[in-house]
Amino acid sequence: MTDGEVTRGPVKSTELRRHLRTLLRERLAPHDRLPTERSLAEEFSLSRLTVRRVLDQLELEGQVYRVQGSGTFVSEPRIAKSVELTSFSEDMRARGLTPGSLAVTAERVPAGAEIGYALRISPAEEVLRLRRVRTADGEPICLEDSCLPAALVPDDLGEALDGSLYEELNARYGLVPHRAEQTIRATVLDQDSARALRVPPFSPAFLVQRTTFDARGRAIERAESLYRGDRYTYQLTIYRT
Ligand code: GLP
Repeated sequence: MTDGEVTRGPVKSTELRRHLRTLLRERLAPHDRLPTERSLAEEFSLSRLTVRRVLDQLELEGQVYRVQGSGTFVSEPRIAKSVELTSFSEDMRARGLTPGSLAVTAERVPAGAEIGYALRISPAEEVLRLRRVRTADGEPICLEDSCLPAALVPDDLGEALDGSLYEELNARYGLVPHRAEQTIRATVLDQDSARALRVPPFSPAFLVQRTTFDARGRAIERAESLYRGDRYTYQLTIYRT
């Protein structure tokens, strides 16, 4: 490290950070390669170590990824998830992506205590349990495990589930989501979930638990969704009351 960098380092590294953020926002596309550590160090008169720290931070934020021996690349943009009562399909379409589902399974099982409590039905009552790997432009980004009271949803929905569940519930039974109680928390993916989402085991994820009600106050779905942490941002508009 030179004397020059000791005094000017923080200012210079802020400049580098700004420069990189502008590059990421305005000039580079996903999977483009960033300039090398060496060229950035020269351009900003910084040590390689300082440049690496700035890149480490961008990597932590999920803005870039590194490939050993090849360099640093721009990550895919995160999908900003609004906290409105939208469906997965609506979220994806709003971002110009095509929603899809893989590996859909449907079974009828007793609700059990936890799901029964969430759906306001007895544990012995039947629910239709749907498991889906949700995709955006073919890329798996979310695992969804939904339970619907069989009393409200008498059919198995079958192939309709390759499309939108909310659209299907409306078309078949006039069930329209009106309000939901939702929690979001951080978690890591176990081996099976990580494999289904094609990321390394223990990758970070958001666990979203949602109970959805129709306008009559009936609980129509209890869902647990695991969203890939590297592909999602939760976005809220908040008001001061
Ligand atoms: C969101 C919710 C799920 C719901 C799904 C419906 O992802 N977290 O609870 O099942 O939307 O989406 P779609 O209508 O695309 O199947």
